[in-house]
Amino acid sequence: MGKYYQKVFAAIYDPLLKGFEKGLSVNRYELLNPLRGKVLEVGSGTGVNFQFYHPDADVIAVEPSLPMLKKAEAKTVNFPNVSLYNYGVNDMEMHSIIANDSLDAISCTLVLCTIPNPELAIQNFKKWLKPGGKLVVLEHIKSKSRVGGVFQEVVNPLWKVVGEGCNLTRHTDVMIKEQGFVAEQTNYFDNTLRWIQGIYTLKT
Ligand SMILES: C[S@@+](CC[C@H](N)C(=O)[O-])C[C@H]1O[C@@H](n2cnc3c(N)ncnc32)[C@H](O)[C@@H]1O
Repeated sequence: MGKYYQKVFAAIYDPLLKGFEKGLSVNRYELLNPLRGKVLEVGSGTGVNFQFYHPDADVIAVEPSLPMLKKAEAKTVNFPNVSLYNYGVNDMEMHSIIANDSLDAISCTLVLCTIPNPELAIQNFKKWLKPGGKLVVLEHIKSKSRVGGVFQEVVNPLWKVVGEGCNLTRHTDVMIKEQGFVAEQTNYFDNTLRWIQGIYTLKT
């Protein structure tokens, strides 16, 4: 579907999520508002999160889809604490805008389901976070029930196309721990899909 569908996806993204956002915006606020200092937001999409950051958070937001980026750019007018870059998180250019041990926090909302090679992204997070820095996530993950999980496996190939690379089948919470992060706080909940809201730090 390519570039044309990227445009369509960016155009329909906010209306599509509107029904979920009543609930999700509470989770977004809880995770993002306490963050201070230098924060990397991965895959900012249309910029839905910008409103939730405290003005004292200095946010670098990266987004590889140009149509999404344009929507997010329009929102930065109201949020001068957000700088936006047209990069994917695993692009080499990321290392020129983010130094090792420089970030107080990294936020991923509805994005580790989509990015190719999330393990590599998490390995980079480990380099970029300061000691004691936080990784905060709000992600849908694979269903806990066997039937639900099998259903997700079956529909995933189609879902991935319609959802611009989004996967229903990732065990993102497990993956984060396998890469060496420790959960400080996690909250699992079901809102059509199974979700995790989590705050992680690096094992010392
Ligand atoms: C489902 S949207 C989520 C947008 C936003 N974070 C939110 O909470 O609504 C997934 C976003 O991840 C972006 N994305 C895809 N590949 C990426 C990558 N390699 N690095 C960063 N973002 C990526 C997509 O372009 C899309 O905007």
